[in-house]
Amino acid sequence: MYSEKVMDHFMNPRNVGEIQDADGIGEVGNARCGDIMKMYLKIEDGVIVDVKFKTFGCGSAIASSSMATELIKGKTIEEAMEVTNKAVAEALDGLPPIKMHCSLLAEQAIKAALYDYAKKNNIEIKGLENFDPQADVHDHDHEHA
Ligand code: FES
Repeated sequence: MYSEKVMDHFMNPRNVGEIQDADGIGEVGNARCGDIMKMYLKIEDGVIVDVKFKTFGCGSAIASSSMATELIKGKTIEEAMEVTNKAVAEALDGLPPIKMHCSLLAEQAIKAALYDYAKKNNIEIKGLENFDPQADVHDHDHEHA
């Protein structure tokens, strides 16, 4: 049911923990399953130089957050904004359909942390104009073109 990559990132998650002096912190939750994900970003000159996460959630959510941190580390803010839940799931060699929302939690956690960073620094990040950090991550289809 789960790919080797999912199992690997679940058993040995990368970048677990927190960053004390993080530049952006995002916390998101899924009301239906109750899982919570917290993402910490260290940003220098528009580049994500460090990222850590803590996930209180299912195995797919842990694997997704681990993979998401790998995908955005060393990337610019703009590049990180392009990391969708589909990209995370693909990088994991797929997730079962009923577990896709777990990868959505990872995408939302990145965006919430970037939103926090933008707010603290009084800047605007394209794509986050209408972001609602309090919004629940629902299970309904969330397709990216
Ligand atoms: Fe809730 Fe996976 S079941 S995030």
